[in-house]
Parts: sequence; C-alpha cells; structure tokens
Amino acid sequence: MGVAKQPLLEVAELEAGYGDLRILRGVSLAVGRGERVLVFGPNGSGKSTLLKAISGILRPSAGSVRLAGSDVAGRPAHRIVRSGLSYVPQTGNIFPDLTVEENLEVGAATARRGYRERRDAAMDLFPTLAERRRQVAGTLSGGERQLVALGRALMLDPGVLLLDEPAAALSAAMAEQVFDHVLTVNRERGVAILLVEQNVLKALEIVQRGYLLETGTVRLAGPVGELRASEAVRGAYLGSSPDGPPTTP
Ligand SMILES: Nc1ncnc2c1ncn2[C@@H]1O[C@H](COP(=O)(O)OP(=O)(O)O)[C@@H](O)[C@H]1O
Ligand SMILES: [Mg+2]
Repeated sequence: MGVAKQPLLEVAELEAGYGDLRILRGVSLAVGRGERVLVFGPNGSGKSTLLKAISGILRPSAGSVRLAGSDVAGRPAHRIVRSGLSYVPQTGNIFPDLTVEENLEVGAATARRGYRERRDAAMDLFPTLAERRRQVAGTLSGGERQLVALGRALMLDPGVLLLDEPAAALSAAMAEQVFDHVLTVNRERGVAILLVEQNVLKALEIVQRGYLLETGTVRLAGPVGELRASEAVRGAYLGSSPDGPPTTP
C-alpha cells in the first residue's frame, strides 16, 4: 500500500473490555486525512469503549491502532495525544471551575510552546471563545461548553479528533450548532473526525462514511448513501423512509 493511500487512523481487530468483560470483539475501521466518519449503534454496543481504546484511556487486549502508519495501541493516552489524536469524552470534557481561557491553556499543557498562537487560532475559529474568555466554563450553556471542549481538543493541533456524542442532552438548535462547529473544525483546519452520535439522521448529514457497531463488532460499514439505503439502518435509526414509499426487497 502506498503511503499516500494510507489512512491517518487505522484500527485493526481491536479487542478491549473491562476486567473479564469482553466488549470490543475485533473492531476494524479507518479514517483518512481530513475525512469525517460516524460510529453509531445501540446503547451499550461499545461505541464509547471503542473511542477509549483508540485514545489509550483503556488499554486494548489485542489488535492495532495505527496513526499515520505507526502502531500506538497500548501506549498511554498522553503519548497518543502527542501523536496527533485528540479525544473529547462525552462528559467531564471541560474544567467547570476554570475560565474559558484557562481551559484552553490546560488543553495545551503538554505543548506550551506555541500556546498563544494556538489559543488565538482557536479563538479566531470560534469567536465565542474570545467573547467568553474570562467566563467560568461551568456557567456556560451546554452548547458553549461543547465549544470549549472542541477548542481545548484543538490546542494540541490534532490530525484526528474523536468525539463521543458531543450533542447529547442538547436541544435540537444547540445540537445543530455543535454539528456546525464540528464541520468548521474539519473544513477550516483539515482535522479528520471520528464521531460517535445517537442522532444518526443528523450525523449522516455531516459525515462521509459510517460504521454500525453492534455488540462490539462492526455490523455494517459504508458511505452515507449506502447506509441511508440500508434496511437495517432505515428501520432502526432513520425512522420512516423519508425518500418515498418503502422498497420491497
Ligand atoms: N467502566 C466500565 N466497567 C464495566 N463495564 C463497563 C464500563 N464502561 C462500560 N461498560 C460496559 O461496556 C458495554 C459497552 O459500553 P459503552 O462502550 O459505554 O457503550 P455505548 O457507548 O455504545 O453505549 C456496556 O455493556 C457497558 O455496561
Ligand atoms: Mg457511549
């Protein structure tokens, strides 16, 4: 395989769990440079576990996680971050007692050099961060907090960003904004996105490909068009068929 064709993030046969509990049963997926990819599936299927195992929060028991070709599986999370992968967990992704600006500073902790430039770049990309820079993050709205989390994740200049349900528990309007912000990060900064999201209908509007995860395995994978056409996806994730009468197989 030529270097140009090599995905930025390539996960192969990844296995992970908690103690004796096996959750991921050989998951393989890839994200190209600048690509936007969705992971979806039922509650408890292992989506969050997958992001934790990729980012090094959870040590995989088998398989590989290649970042630009080198295997980082089993390395500690702080090393994986330095290899260009930022992870935004579903909860606890900001310091509520710190100001917006302090959150950005903490986000850059392992990359002090260039801190000001990166902070200014994050604030240029998202002017709300500049407007609210002195505000204590815990007093922001849910959508603004997600923006701070995104800004923090950008401080290390990642090539790929892992996002665990960034729009969960937000109003439809706020969720829409968060999706817009994710698109901005991708388009303006060229950061690849691996998104976990329950609102599959919305998420399919902003990604290019997706993987359906069920009981720790990839049940289905493909470009958005194929996923939208799949009976399994339409029935369980897209509600009724918005494109016309249901097709008979
Ligand atoms: N810290 C943990 N300890 C033990 N089991 C866990 C832990 N976190 C998640 N699990 C279990 O792992 C399975 C997958 O969880 P998770 O990856 O959070 O699923 P999803 O994000 O798809 O909803 C679930 O059965 C869940 O109960
Ligand atoms: Mg989850």
